[in-house]
Amino acid sequence: MAKNYQVPTGTQDFLPQQTKIWQEVEQIIREECEKYSYQEIRTPVFEYTEVFKTENDSSDMVTKEMYTFETTSEKGSTSFVLRPEGTKGIVRSFVEHKLYGNTAELPQKLYYIGPMFRHERPQKGRYRQFHQFGIEAIGAKDPLLDVETIALGYSIIKRLGIKDVKILVNSLGDDESRNNYRQALKDYFKPHLNELCEDCNRRYEMNPLRILDCKVDRNNPIFTSAPSIKDYWNETSKEYFAKVIEGLEILQIPYEIDDKLVRGLDYYSNTVYEAVPIDATGQQAAVFAGGQYDGLVDYFGGGPLPGVGFGMGLERVIELAKEQGRFEVTNKSCDVYVITMGDVAAYGLQATQSLREAGLKVEKDYLGRSLKAQFKATERLQSKIIVIIGEEEKEKRTVNVKNVATQTQQTVSIDELVEFVKKELGKE
Ligand code: HAM
Repeated sequence: MAKNYQVPTGTQDFLPQQTKIWQEVEQIIREECEKYSYQEIRTPVFEYTEVFKTENDSSDMVTKEMYTFETTSEKGSTSFVLRPEGTKGIVRSFVEHKLYGNTAELPQKLYYIGPMFRHERPQKGRYRQFHQFGIEAIGAKDPLLDVETIALGYSIIKRLGIKDVKILVNSLGDDESRNNYRQALKDYFKPHLNELCEDCNRRYEMNPLRILDCKVDRNNPIFTSAPSIKDYWNETSKEYFAKVIEGLEILQIPYEIDDKLVRGLDYYSNTVYEAVPIDATGQQAAVFAGGQYDGLVDYFGGGPLPGVGFGMGLERVIELAKEQGRFEVTNKSCDVYVITMGDVAAYGLQATQSLREAGLKVEKDYLGRSLKAQFKATERLQSKIIVIIGEEEKEKRTVNVKNVATQTQQTVSIDELVEFVKKELGKE
């Protein structure tokens, strides 16, 4: 049987040149989170299945796309899932560590970066292992906190040089508004059930709002004339949403109200949003998306505390940033290359180590290459300084130092090597 020595479908290897871009993106994310006072939280990549398979969750993510596995011990078997998203795991951790206890510290503003897993049909921008940067602000309900989350996501998009992104925004209203709307949708869709797909029939029973998110039926004319949530907002929901919109106006964040936006996950209430490229057509186009959730903390036993946040698909933002010319591929480089000739390995090692300990980026040869090939390597790595060591230098405890820019070469004592090189590099 043929052996499958490739990455699993829907996953990717990131080779060193790409990883550099990821590190730069993560650095920008961390800096922006600092500014908005979000702190990093790290939770396990797998959780007990119940953390994600919460009661009445009808989302595709939970019902169809989770990677579930069991382990067995003498106590019986236990079911786990690879996390398909961040929010539920973070809320689980928030409650487990009683972060709700210190009200002076609310809202807790948390962020995370890491891999998520969904068994979806892979396509551009949609993977089975993907990486999310996400934030959750838990313990306060304030329309301006919702706006702040959007502002943070948007500022990261801008810093990544991604242009032409707008925020689609809607409100699912509070419990009362949503219940009325749910009923209106049920009444509306009831006579059309046989025209809707199998999933929509299931959603009709569990959460009719999610019918509006159907990828199969979304262009069906029945959908376009379905009731709009905005006709079911009560006064409180209306006022809350008006303040969100006012905040977006004040911050001049480009937005569009989309009254059919319900989001693919089940836990949302009030504000929901998706940041999409202005010319986006596909459903998978959101670069970051999220909203407010009222019931999750309570569900996990932490009391009736609200939360708000978003998840940002890092593969998607990096692809967009690259398409818009943001990242140049940089080649590997070094400050100093140490060339050795003859029986000087230990002496060369010592010189290399002392330069590295001084904070310089140093490379050497490991393949016994010829002098000519080692010089070639210094060019490939765009080395600024070349240290040349032969048996005579070892004997006299000196080294030759060549400055590539000035094309000057000098012999210095091994004890002065670090200071000399730093001076040549202008790094005193
Ligand atoms: P989500 O809309 O499922 O929300 O995912 C958020 C973002 O993750 C998407 O907008 C997209 O950029 C990225 N994403 C999702 N699935 C994939 C995939 N298969 N491949 C590549 N990128 C993907 C959530 O996950 C919520 N936890 C967001 C949230 C946080 N809501 C409140 N707090």
